[in-house]
Amino acid sequence: MPPVSKIALGMKPLRRDNPWPDFGYGEIEPFYLPLDGGGRGGREIILDVIKERRIELMVEIGCFLCGSTLQWLRSSDKLTIIGCDPWDSNWAAYIENMALDPLRARTVYHLSDEQIATIVHNIRRFGNFCVAMNNVRLYKDRFVPVRRRSPEVLGYLSERGIDPQLIYIDADKKREDLDVARKHFPNAVICGDDWLWPDETGKLVMQEHVKDFAKEYGYEVRSARQTWLLIAP
Ligand SMILES: C[S@@+](CC[C@H](N)C(=O)[O-])C[C@H]1O[C@@H](n2cnc3c(N)ncnc32)[C@H](O)[C@@H]1O
Repeated sequence: MPPVSKIALGMKPLRRDNPWPDFGYGEIEPFYLPLDGGGRGGREIILDVIKERRIELMVEIGCFLCGSTLQWLRSSDKLTIIGCDPWDSNWAAYIENMALDPLRARTVYHLSDEQIATIVHNIRRFGNFCVAMNNVRLYKDRFVPVRRRSPEVLGYLSERGIDPQLIYIDADKKREDLDVARKHFPNAVICGDDWLWPDETGKLVMQEHVKDFAKEYGYEVRSARQTWLLIAP
């Protein structure tokens, strides 16, 4: 029997327990809608690490409509992603408002008004999860959706013997995510979004969490625009 790689271990039962939803894939139009400021979020530093370190297994926390997921998947055909997001509530009104808000409209500049209306309609009708999965339908063999929240999901993956090489966090801007990621996956590259995101008092909360965490544990910090990256010591 061929040797089973460490990365493949645990993936089969994880897929079994976290199936894709039944849906008429391809019957609605897929779309590309990453929340990365219209491509100016600095995500190239993550793409570089995926290539340089030949990352084969990544955990993405906060996939939304899988726009960022598509960026990672398209960067390497060796990469498998475990996408963690509850995909709860319904984002139709959020997308509708984003298109009308001058500060956020850049994110949807590449879509026509008709396309935005169709996306909003489809999300209202089919819900976030099916619409998000339809966007990554060509990557069914390389994407496992796990409808759980961080940080709990990191313990869940660890218990199942999953060992990601990279964890990308674009969710709640909490320090806890970093600590739990390190606890379970001490060798993983930990990275994410929201480096320049200010809370209501103007504090760059995620940047503070990342810098404090890096200082405590000796990680190297890299950043570009909204994106940050921590290399384990
Ligand atoms: C800013 S969006 C992610 C955008 C996406 N990465 C992109 O660039 O296209 C935040 C996402 O995080 C998810 N989320 C919020 N809290 C979470 C948590 N504790 N664990 C996992 N996902 C969470 C939300 O459901 C939402 O889809």
